[in-house]
Amino acid sequence: MRALQFSEYGSPEVLTWGDAPLPHAGPGEIRITVRAASVNPIDWKILSGAMSGGQRLAGTGYLGSDAAGVVDEVGEGVSGVSVGDEVFGRGQNTQAEGAVLNAWAVKPSSIDWAVAAAAGVTGETSERGLRLLDVKSGETIFIDGGAGGVGAVGVQMAVARGARVIASSSEANHGYLREIGAIPVLYGEGVGGRVRAAAGGQVDAVFDVAGKTPVEELVSLVSEPSQVVSIANFAAGQAGARVTGGGAESRPMEALAEVGELLAENKLVIKVQTFPFERAAEAYRISQDGHVRGKLVLIP
Ligand SMILES: NC(=O)c1ccc[n+]([C@@H]2O[C@H](COP(=O)([O-])OP(=O)(O)OC[C@H]3O[C@@H](n4cnc5c(N)ncnc54)[C@H](OP(=O)(O)O)[C@@H]3O)[C@@H](O)[C@H]2O)c1
Repeated sequence: MRALQFSEYGSPEVLTWGDAPLPHAGPGEIRITVRAASVNPIDWKILSGAMSGGQRLAGTGYLGSDAAGVVDEVGEGVSGVSVGDEVFGRGQNTQAEGAVLNAWAVKPSSIDWAVAAAAGVTGETSERGLRLLDVKSGETIFIDGGAGGVGAVGVQMAVARGARVIASSSEANHGYLREIGAIPVLYGEGVGGRVRAAAGGQVDAVFDVAGKTPVEELVSLVSEPSQVVSIANFAAGQAGARVTGGGAESRPMEALAEVGELLAENKLVIKVQTFPFERAAEAYRISQDGHVRGKLVLIP
Protein backbone atom coordinates (compact mmCIF):
# COMPACT_ATOMS: atom_id res chain seq x y z
CA MET A 1 0.00 0.00 0.00
CA ARG A 2 0.99 3.66 -0.13
CA ALA A 3 1.09 6.06 2.83
CA LEU A 4 1.97 9.68 3.48
CA GLN A 5 5.39 9.65 5.12
CA PHE A 6 8.51 11.56 6.10
CA SER A 7 12.09 10.63 6.95
CA GLU A 8 13.07 13.89 8.66
CA TYR A 9 11.14 16.43 10.71
CA GLY A 10 10.31 19.58 8.82
CA SER A 11 7.76 21.60 6.89
CA PRO A 12 5.10 20.02 4.61
CA GLU A 13 7.63 19.90 1.72
CA VAL A 14 9.32 16.85 3.32
CA LEU A 15 6.14 14.76 2.91
CA THR A 16 6.07 12.00 0.31
CA TRP A 17 3.32 9.60 -0.81
CA GLY A 18 4.97 6.22 -1.22
CA ASP A 19 5.12 2.53 -0.36
CA ALA A 20 4.64 1.45 3.25
CA PRO A 21 3.92 -1.81 5.07
CA LEU A 22 0.23 -2.64 5.45
CA PRO A 23 -0.63 -2.57 9.19
CA HIS A 24 -2.74 -5.24 10.90
CA ALA A 25 -5.66 -4.86 13.30
CA GLY A 26 -4.62 -5.83 16.84
CA PRO A 27 -7.03 -6.84 19.62
CA GLY A 28 -9.96 -4.42 19.80
CA GLU A 29 -9.08 -2.81 16.47
CA ILE A 30 -10.24 -2.93 12.87
CA ARG A 31 -8.41 -2.18 9.64
CA ILE A 32 -10.00 -0.24 6.80
CA THR A 33 -9.30 0.39 3.16
CA VAL A 34 -9.13 4.17 3.46
CA ARG A 35 -11.47 6.22 1.27
CA ALA A 36 -10.66 9.55 2.96
CA ALA A 37 -8.52 10.78 5.87
CA SER A 38 -8.63 14.23 7.43
CA VAL A 39 -5.84 16.66 8.27
CA ASN A 40 -5.69 17.79 11.91
CA PRO A 41 -3.30 20.39 13.36
CA ILE A 42 -1.60 17.61 15.34
CA ASP A 43 -0.33 16.22 12.01
CA TRP A 44 1.84 19.22 11.15
CA LYS A 45 2.84 19.57 14.82
CA ILE A 46 4.17 15.98 14.71
CA LEU A 47 5.74 16.55 11.28
CA SER A 48 7.58 19.66 12.52
CA GLY A 49 9.18 17.67 15.35
CA ALA A 50 7.44 19.85 17.97
CA MET A 51 5.98 16.77 19.67
CA SER A 52 9.21 14.74 19.69
CA GLY A 53 10.62 16.05 22.97
CA GLY A 54 13.85 16.94 21.20
CA GLN A 55 14.46 13.35 20.01
CA ARG A 56 15.63 12.61 16.46
CA LEU A 57 13.15 10.79 14.23
CA ALA A 58 13.70 7.02 14.45
CA GLY A 59 12.73 5.32 11.17
CA THR A 60 9.94 6.55 8.94
CA GLY A 61 7.21 8.82 10.26
CA TYR A 62 3.52 8.34 9.36
CA LEU A 63 0.60 10.66 10.05
CA GLY A 64 -3.16 10.90 10.49
CA SER A 65 -5.61 10.39 13.37
CA ASP A 66 -8.92 9.72 11.62
CA ALA A 67 -10.35 8.26 8.45
CA ALA A 68 -13.36 6.69 6.76
CA GLY A 69 -13.32 3.52 4.71
CA VAL A 70 -14.35 -0.11 4.23
CA VAL A 71 -13.49 -2.70 6.89
CA ASP A 72 -11.04 -5.31 5.55
CA GLU A 73 -9.73 -6.89 8.77
CA VAL A 74 -11.30 -7.33 12.21
CA GLY A 75 -9.09 -7.75 15.28
CA GLU A 76 -9.49 -10.21 18.14
CA GLY A 77 -12.35 -9.49 20.53
CA VAL A 78 -14.15 -7.10 18.19
CA SER A 79 -17.87 -7.67 17.62
CA GLY A 80 -20.63 -5.80 15.85
CA VAL A 81 -18.60 -4.98 12.76
CA SER A 82 -17.66 -7.13 9.73
CA VAL A 83 -15.42 -7.07 6.69
CA GLY A 84 -17.16 -4.95 4.05
CA ASP A 85 -18.85 -2.53 6.49
CA GLU A 86 -18.48 1.19 5.81
CA VAL A 87 -17.19 3.03 8.89
CA PHE A 88 -15.45 6.16 10.08
CA GLY A 89 -13.41 6.78 13.18
CA ARG A 90 -10.18 7.44 14.96
CA GLY A 91 -6.88 5.66 14.56
CA GLN A 92 -3.18 6.04 13.94
CA ASN A 93 -1.29 6.68 10.71
CA THR A 94 -4.60 6.99 8.87
CA GLN A 95 -3.24 9.06 5.96
CA ALA A 96 -2.63 5.93 3.93
CA GLU A 97 -4.41 3.46 1.67
CA GLY A 98 -4.90 1.12 4.64
CA ALA A 99 -5.20 2.08 8.32
CA VAL A 100 -6.07 0.67 11.71
CA LEU A 101 -8.89 2.27 13.72
CA ASN A 102 -9.28 1.89 17.50
CA ALA A 103 -12.70 3.59 17.67
CA TRP A 104 -15.35 3.72 14.97
CA ALA A 105 -19.02 4.00 14.05
CA VAL A 106 -21.05 3.02 11.01
CA LYS A 107 -20.84 5.61 8.22
CA PRO A 108 -24.36 6.80 7.37
CA SER A 109 -24.96 5.83 3.72
CA SER A 110 -26.09 9.38 2.87
CA ILE A 111 -22.79 10.91 4.00
CA ASP A 112 -19.73 11.44 1.75
CA TRP A 113 -16.51 9.65 2.62
CA ALA A 114 -14.70 12.98 3.08
CA VAL A 115 -17.32 14.31 5.52
CA ALA A 116 -17.24 11.07 7.53
CA ALA A 117 -13.42 11.20 7.66
CA ALA A 118 -13.66 14.78 8.96
CA ALA A 119 -15.89 13.71 11.85
CA GLY A 120 -13.50 11.44 13.78
CA VAL A 121 -11.18 13.68 15.81
CA THR A 122 -13.55 16.65 15.69
CA GLY A 123 -16.54 14.60 16.89
CA GLU A 124 -14.71 12.82 19.69
CA THR A 125 -13.09 16.05 20.89
CA SER A 126 -16.35 18.02 20.80
CA GLU A 127 -18.32 15.32 22.62
CA ARG A 128 -15.61 15.22 25.31
CA GLY A 129 -15.53 19.00 25.75
CA LEU A 130 -19.31 19.39 25.92
CA ARG A 131 -19.62 16.45 28.35
CA LEU A 132 -16.91 17.86 30.66
CA LEU A 133 -18.80 21.16 30.61
CA ASP A 134 -22.11 19.32 31.13
CA VAL A 135 -23.78 21.51 28.51
CA LYS A 136 -27.56 21.26 28.81
CA SER A 137 -30.61 22.50 26.97
CA GLY A 138 -31.31 26.17 27.60
CA GLU A 139 -27.74 26.98 28.67
CA THR A 140 -25.46 29.43 26.90
CA ILE A 141 -22.00 28.30 25.80
CA PHE A 142 -19.21 30.34 24.24
CA ILE A 143 -17.02 28.43 21.77
CA ASP A 144 -13.79 30.34 21.12
CA GLY A 145 -12.73 29.41 17.59
CA GLY A 146 -16.07 28.20 16.21
CA ALA A 147 -15.36 28.05 12.47
CA GLY A 148 -12.52 25.50 12.44
CA GLY A 149 -12.57 21.71 12.54
CA VAL A 150 -13.39 21.10 16.20
CA GLY A 151 -15.19 24.42 16.62
CA ALA A 152 -17.77 23.94 13.86
CA VAL A 153 -18.58 20.42 15.04
CA GLY A 154 -18.71 21.62 18.67
CA VAL A 155 -21.13 24.42 17.72
CA GLN A 156 -23.52 21.99 16.04
CA MET A 157 -23.30 19.35 18.80
CA ALA A 158 -24.06 22.05 21.38
CA VAL A 159 -27.02 23.31 19.30
CA ALA A 160 -28.27 19.70 19.07
CA ARG A 161 -28.21 19.59 22.89
CA GLY A 162 -30.52 22.61 22.93
CA ALA A 163 -27.88 25.12 24.02
CA ARG A 164 -27.61 28.71 22.85
CA VAL A 165 -24.19 28.99 21.23
CA ILE A 166 -22.03 32.10 20.87
CA ALA A 167 -18.91 31.46 18.83
CA SER A 168 -15.89 33.50 17.74
CA SER A 169 -14.25 33.71 14.34
CA SER A 170 -12.80 36.26 11.96
CA GLU A 171 -15.34 38.56 10.26
CA ALA A 172 -15.15 36.40 7.11
CA ASN A 173 -16.63 33.41 8.92
CA HIS A 174 -19.56 35.11 10.66
CA GLY A 175 -21.99 34.06 7.93
CA TYR A 176 -20.74 30.47 8.26
CA LEU A 177 -21.20 30.56 12.05
CA ARG A 178 -24.80 31.78 11.62
CA GLU A 179 -25.41 28.97 9.08
CA ILE A 180 -24.41 26.34 11.66
CA GLY A 181 -26.54 27.88 14.39
CA ALA A 182 -24.21 30.13 16.38
CA ILE A 183 -24.31 33.81 17.29
CA PRO A 184 -21.00 35.11 15.87
CA VAL A 185 -18.57 37.42 17.64
CA LEU A 186 -15.20 38.66 16.44
CA TYR A 187 -12.19 37.05 18.17
CA GLY A 188 -9.15 38.99 19.41
CA GLU A 189 -8.80 41.88 21.83
CA GLY A 190 -12.05 42.66 23.65
CA VAL A 191 -13.71 39.35 22.78
CA GLY A 192 -14.89 38.93 26.40
CA GLY A 193 -16.92 42.14 26.20
CA ARG A 194 -18.47 41.12 22.90
CA VAL A 195 -19.47 37.72 24.34
CA ARG A 196 -21.06 39.41 27.38
CA ALA A 197 -22.98 41.76 25.11
CA ALA A 198 -24.25 38.87 22.96
CA ALA A 199 -25.14 36.74 25.99
CA GLY A 200 -26.66 39.54 28.05
CA GLY A 201 -24.17 38.78 30.86
CA GLN A 202 -22.10 35.75 31.78
CA VAL A 203 -22.30 32.38 30.04
CA ASP A 204 -22.70 28.90 31.53
CA ALA A 205 -19.65 27.37 29.86
CA VAL A 206 -16.68 28.19 27.64
CA PHE A 207 -15.13 25.69 25.22
CA ASP A 208 -11.75 27.05 24.13
CA VAL A 209 -10.78 25.24 20.94
CA ALA A 210 -8.34 27.88 19.68
CA GLY A 211 -6.13 28.53 22.70
CA LYS A 212 -5.52 32.13 21.63
CA THR A 213 -7.55 34.25 24.10
CA PRO A 214 -5.92 34.91 27.50
CA VAL A 215 -7.48 32.33 29.80
CA GLU A 216 -8.23 34.98 32.47
CA GLU A 217 -10.55 36.68 29.98
CA LEU A 218 -12.37 33.38 29.34
CA VAL A 219 -12.59 32.62 33.07
CA SER A 220 -14.20 36.04 33.66
CA LEU A 221 -17.14 34.92 31.49
CA VAL A 222 -18.27 32.10 33.83
CA SER A 223 -19.14 31.80 37.53
CA GLU A 224 -16.64 28.96 38.16
CA PRO A 225 -13.22 28.79 36.44
CA SER A 226 -13.71 25.04 35.93
CA GLN A 227 -16.53 25.92 33.50
CA VAL A 228 -13.80 26.79 31.00
CA VAL A 229 -12.45 23.74 29.16
CA SER A 230 -9.53 24.18 26.76
CA ILE A 231 -8.15 21.74 24.23
CA ALA A 232 -5.46 24.08 22.96
CA ASN A 233 -4.07 26.18 25.81
CA PHE A 234 -2.13 23.78 27.98
CA ALA A 235 -1.35 26.54 30.51
CA ALA A 236 -5.06 27.23 31.11
CA GLY A 237 -5.03 25.14 34.32
CA GLN A 238 -3.08 27.92 36.06
CA ALA A 239 -6.24 30.05 36.05
CA GLY A 240 -8.46 27.19 37.27
CA ALA A 241 -9.72 26.21 33.81
CA ARG A 242 -9.66 22.57 32.78
CA VAL A 243 -7.44 21.27 30.00
CA THR A 244 -8.28 18.07 28.19
CA GLY A 245 -6.08 16.08 25.85
CA GLY A 246 -8.17 12.92 25.71
CA GLY A 247 -6.91 9.89 27.63
CA ALA A 248 -9.24 8.57 30.33
CA GLU A 249 -11.72 11.42 29.69
CA SER A 250 -12.32 10.14 26.17
CA ARG A 251 -15.34 7.97 25.29
CA PRO A 252 -14.65 7.59 21.58
CA MET A 253 -17.10 4.81 20.68
CA GLU A 254 -20.03 6.62 22.32
CA ALA A 255 -18.94 9.93 20.82
CA LEU A 256 -18.65 8.54 17.30
CA ALA A 257 -22.03 6.80 17.57
CA GLU A 258 -23.60 10.16 18.48
CA VAL A 259 -21.75 11.89 15.64
CA GLY A 260 -22.97 9.23 13.17
CA GLU A 261 -26.57 9.86 14.22
CA LEU A 262 -26.22 13.64 13.93
CA LEU A 263 -24.66 13.26 10.46
CA ALA A 264 -27.47 10.96 9.33
CA GLU A 265 -30.09 13.43 10.60
CA ASN A 266 -28.33 16.41 8.93
CA LYS A 267 -27.96 18.01 12.35
CA LEU A 268 -24.22 18.00 11.77
CA VAL A 269 -22.93 19.35 8.48
CA ILE A 270 -19.17 19.53 7.93
CA LYS A 271 -17.76 21.76 5.21
CA VAL A 272 -14.81 19.96 3.61
CA GLN A 273 -12.12 20.84 1.12
CA THR A 274 -10.53 17.75 -0.44
CA PHE A 275 -7.04 17.12 -1.84
CA PRO A 276 -5.53 14.03 -3.46
CA PHE A 277 -2.81 12.51 -1.25
CA GLU A 278 -0.17 13.63 -3.75
CA ARG A 279 -1.10 17.25 -2.84
CA ALA A 280 -1.11 16.70 0.94
CA ALA A 281 1.60 19.35 1.47
CA GLU A 282 -0.83 21.99 0.18
CA ALA A 283 -3.49 20.93 2.69
CA TYR A 284 -0.92 20.88 5.50
CA ARG A 285 0.17 24.43 4.65
CA ILE A 286 -3.44 25.68 4.75
CA SER A 287 -3.97 23.97 8.11
CA GLN A 288 -0.75 25.48 9.44
CA ASP A 289 -1.92 28.98 8.46
CA GLY A 290 -4.66 28.54 11.09
CA HIS A 291 -7.75 29.84 9.28
CA VAL A 292 -9.44 26.67 8.03
CA ARG A 293 -13.22 26.82 7.58
CA GLY A 294 -14.48 23.32 8.40
CA LYS A 295 -12.00 20.56 7.46
CA LEU A 296 -9.29 19.62 5.00
CA VAL A 297 -9.49 16.01 3.80
CA LEU A 298 -7.08 13.81 1.80
CA ILE A 299 -8.36 11.28 -0.74
CA PRO A 300 -6.29 8.32 -2.01
N1 LIG B 1 -6.66 18.45 23.23
C1 LIG B 1 -7.31 17.75 22.31
O1 LIG B 1 -7.85 16.68 22.60
C2 LIG B 1 -7.38 18.27 20.91
C3 LIG B 1 -8.12 17.60 19.94
C4 LIG B 1 -8.23 18.17 18.66
C5 LIG B 1 -7.59 19.37 18.39
N2 LIG B 1 -6.84 19.96 19.35
C6 LIG B 1 -6.16 21.26 19.09
O2 LIG B 1 -7.19 22.26 19.04
C7 LIG B 1 -6.82 23.29 18.14
C8 LIG B 1 -7.93 23.50 17.11
O3 LIG B 1 -8.04 22.35 16.28
P1 LIG B 1 -8.91 22.41 14.95
O4 LIG B 1 -8.79 21.11 14.28
O5 LIG B 1 -10.26 22.95 15.25
O6 LIG B 1 -8.07 23.53 14.13
P2 LIG B 1 -8.45 24.30 12.78
O7 LIG B 1 -9.47 23.54 12.03
O8 LIG B 1 -7.18 24.62 12.13
O9 LIG B 1 -9.16 25.64 13.31
C9 LIG B 1 -8.66 26.86 13.08
C10 LIG B 1 -9.71 27.88 13.53
O10 LIG B 1 -9.15 28.72 14.52
C11 LIG B 1 -9.73 29.99 14.37
N3 LIG B 1 -8.88 31.03 14.97
C12 LIG B 1 -7.73 31.55 14.48
N4 LIG B 1 -7.28 32.52 15.32
C13 LIG B 1 -8.17 32.60 16.35
C14 LIG B 1 -8.28 33.40 17.51
N5 LIG B 1 -7.37 34.33 17.81
N6 LIG B 1 -9.32 33.20 18.34
C15 LIG B 1 -10.25 32.27 18.10
N7 LIG B 1 -10.22 31.48 16.98
C16 LIG B 1 -9.19 31.64 16.14
C17 LIG B 1 -9.86 30.16 12.87
O11 LIG B 1 -10.91 31.07 12.59
P3 LIG B 1 -10.83 32.05 11.30
O12 LIG B 1 -10.65 31.14 10.10
O13 LIG B 1 -12.14 32.75 11.28
O14 LIG B 1 -9.62 32.92 11.50
C18 LIG B 1 -10.16 28.75 12.37
O15 LIG B 1 -11.54 28.59 12.15
C19 LIG B 1 -5.46 22.87 17.55
O16 LIG B 1 -4.44 23.48 18.31
C20 LIG B 1 -5.44 21.36 17.76
O17 LIG B 1 -4.13 20.83 17.81
C21 LIG B 1 -6.71 19.46 20.59
